[in-house]
Amino acid sequence: MATVTVGAVREKAPGERRVALVPEAVTLLRRAGLDVLVEAGAGSRAWFTDADYTAAGAAVVAPDELYARADAVLCVGPPDTETARSLRTGQTLIGLLEPLRHPALAQELYGRGVRTVSLDLLPRTLSRAQSMDALTSQASVAGYKAALVAAESYDRFFPMLTTAAGTMRPAQVLVLGAGVAGLQAIATARRLGALVTAYDVRPESRGEVESLGARFLDVQSPPPEEPGTERTGYARELTADEQHAQREALDAHIARSDVVITTAQVPGRRPPLLVSAAVLERMQPGSVVLDLAASDLGGNVEGSEPDKTDVLAGGVTVIGAGHLPSAMATAASTAYARNLVALLRHLVRDGELVLDPADEITGALMGGERS
Ligand code: NAI
Repeated sequence: MATVTVGAVREKAPGERRVALVPEAVTLLRRAGLDVLVEAGAGSRAWFTDADYTAAGAAVVAPDELYARADAVLCVGPPDTETARSLRTGQTLIGLLEPLRHPALAQELYGRGVRTVSLDLLPRTLSRAQSMDALTSQASVAGYKAALVAAESYDRFFPMLTTAAGTMRPAQVLVLGAGVAGLQAIATARRLGALVTAYDVRPESRGEVESLGARFLDVQSPPPEEPGTERTGYARELTADEQHAQREALDAHIARSDVVITTAQVPGRRPPLLVSAAVLERMQPGSVVLDLAASDLGGNVEGSEPDKTDVLAGGVTVIGAGHLPSAMATAASTAYARNLVALLRHLVRDGELVLDPADEITGALMGGERS
């Protein structure tokens, strides 16, 4: 019977420490009948040795051999030009390829007959696709780490502490945006003992926020006949009036908070600006604001930049999050590899890699090929 061979490459992007497969995933794929190749050193920055992969049943190989033998090449982020050139006609590339951000790469690969399966295009609301949802698994890691990074920068305790020297009050943490990353940031800040308040434009997030022991902030929300949610389940962009009312109410809460973690985004658009320079000036010295949505397009916090920390004149620390999943490469890679195993279980049938555009999941994942 034919066998599908998959190969996990060593990531080349600067600062990227994650790896597409971890040894535990190799064992699962071998059990499912696949042959697994791993580029030498691929897991080293996530603390997985070549010997770990060999013990799990993979063949550790040089890149040339991997590209020559693999039916499907597995990666985390989009490949660099050199890696893209190594791929051959009929081969499939699977990863968080972001074809909408890298249309030239998608076109080049499509032109050369390389199939692409972009995990970021997964139809996330389909329940049978949830085990493959790499955006969710990576955002969970980022949300957890965001709370820890903020706590590390904050020069007081998160929990209330009663000591011989008296009682220390708990930190007031505000989380803006209660999506995947925001909910994990809330849960982590709660576990550290902070008093957490959260806000999201989607009214249905209230229950999730409250179930984590946080308070949902009541600011003027969009009217019920025009909820802040699209039919897709994502947030819609608010109107100018709605944004103004929301901002006035939020500003007062932000100014009173010790730590603010922002995670708001509307897919396909620049992240909404939620914390202005004026409100940063109203915060107490020693407060910390962490912007998880910091990006080259701007973030939720005025002036924030990815991977940059600023201490403002008023004593407020503004942290533009860098690449947080990579900062927890072992956990992030383990979760990502589980997503890939679930995807490969879906794609491999009777020893063949089946890329059926008519399949609801596969078709969506291949949607970047012609972008
Ligand atoms: P998500 O789409 O699951 O959640 C975003 C949430 O923001 C949604 O619940 C949405 O309703 C809410 N939102 C939108 N507009 C809002 C507004 N005006 N006010 C309040 N809430 C609003 O996204 P996810 O996966 O949780 O990611 C959140 C952000 O974190 C994104 O910007 C993403 O790019 C970033 N991120 C950064 C990482 C890093 O390492 N720096 C890693 C993962 C995500």
